[in-house]
Amino acid sequence: MKKIIIINGPNLNLLGKREPGIYGAQSFEDFYTDLKTKYEGFELSYFQSNIEGELIDKIQEVGFSFDGIILNAAAYTHTSVGIGDAIKAIETPVIEVHISNTFAREEFRHQSYISPNAKGVILGFGLQSYELALQSFL
Ligand code: DQA
Repeated sequence: MKKIIIINGPNLNLLGKREPGIYGAQSFEDFYTDLKTKYEGFELSYFQSNIEGELIDKIQEVGFSFDGIILNAAAYTHTSVGIGDAIKAIETPVIEVHISNTFAREEFRHQSYISPNAKGVILGFGLQSYELALQSFL
């Protein structure tokens, strides 16, 4: 069974409450429960942190044994050389995801330190971005 982890960065613990016009009204926990039921063929896990170093620690921890990482680094996408370097350092393929279409938003969201090192990028499909990323491992 393929081992896939979803890693969420800062403020994504507030999904459902946070700017619902942009990020939707569903909590990630509810979405994740449904996803696990729908894709029982994967060994799925989930990690969220608001702390850059904890995200890097998790990427390193799973990056030599898991089959895939679905990463929404949230605001750190646009700032973190450290997370970009962590992705370069590991062997596990990373799919970068975003709920919103970051290219349709402010200019500072157009820059990503994740994309150059990701296997692929999926953005703008709401929470479905995560599901599309997962399907890429089927
Ligand atoms: C986000 C987009 C980022 O620009 C933002 O900082 C987030 C969420 C998204 O999923 O649309 O926190 O990664």
